[in-house]
Amino acid sequence: MEAEDWKGIATNYEENILSVYDNDQDRKIESIIKKLALKKGTAVDLGCGTGKFLPLLSDHFKNVQGCDYSEEMIDVAKKSHRNITNLSLTVRDLREFSSKIKPSDLALCINVILSPSISDREKIWRNVRKSVRPGRYLVLVTPSLESALYSKYRLVEWNIRKGNASSQALTEGFETTDENGKLISRGGIINYGGVPTKHYLEEELTCLADRFGFKIKSLEKITYPWSTEFSNPPKWMKSPLPWDWLTLLQKQQFKNR
Ligand SMILES: C[S@@+](CC[C@H](N)C(=O)[O-])C[C@H]1O[C@@H](n2cnc3c(N)ncnc32)[C@H](O)[C@@H]1O
Repeated sequence: MEAEDWKGIATNYEENILSVYDNDQDRKIESIIKKLALKKGTAVDLGCGTGKFLPLLSDHFKNVQGCDYSEEMIDVAKKSHRNITNLSLTVRDLREFSSKIKPSDLALCINVILSPSISDREKIWRNVRKSVRPGRYLVLVTPSLESALYSKYRLVEWNIRKGNASSQALTEGFETTDENGKLISRGGIINYGGVPTKHYLEEELTCLADRFGFKIKSLEKITYPWSTEFSNPPKWMKSPLPWDWLTLLQKQQFKNR
């Protein structure tokens, strides 16, 4: 997706985007932010969208920055948070380096590195790294490939329980644009709401963290209700719930790179 594709989404944000802030029932991100709070420190929300996490950051850090490449998202964030005095918001494409964003004590990057283009993702990763001070932290949320595949299994189960023949149960409700499975097997790309979206394996995140000079402090599931995957999910569909990966990373110095 490009910046202009997020235009309509900014105005109908609640209907179009899974809000991690609203669906994080255990408030896991909130408790990480509170644990890492630095009253004299700085925080940045990279790809902040409409800025749901910004009030929390501004309560726990001296100066907070938010950036997004969608002007509309930044406009909505500016309107919603005009009363926050320690906040600055800028339009910025994370694929490009910007000297305006100073390295922070805490960076959030919540469901932003979703591009199906590996070269775009590499650029974003490099700039995300530059946005964190050495020894300080990055809170990363990424879609889980395991969860996406597991959700497809639950859809098949739903079809079987409805009485569909097993072959029909396998095909019903599935999108067929990736007929040969190239996108999913080579890149972990799955259509989410019609948009090709990068999904990550747990082990892949471990490798990415290492390559971009971060130490993993924790890697856990952030679970959501089934209503985030399916409209009107049946009552019997309970745990295990679908999830994103929530990773807390600490920036290391690169060794001999
Ligand atoms: C799924 S939304 C998440 C928004 C916010 N982090 C949240 O959790 O509410 C993804 C956001 O990333 C932004 N984004 C995607 N690619 C970007 C890029 N290359 N540079 C800056 N922002 C980007 C989009 O504009 C969008 O606002």
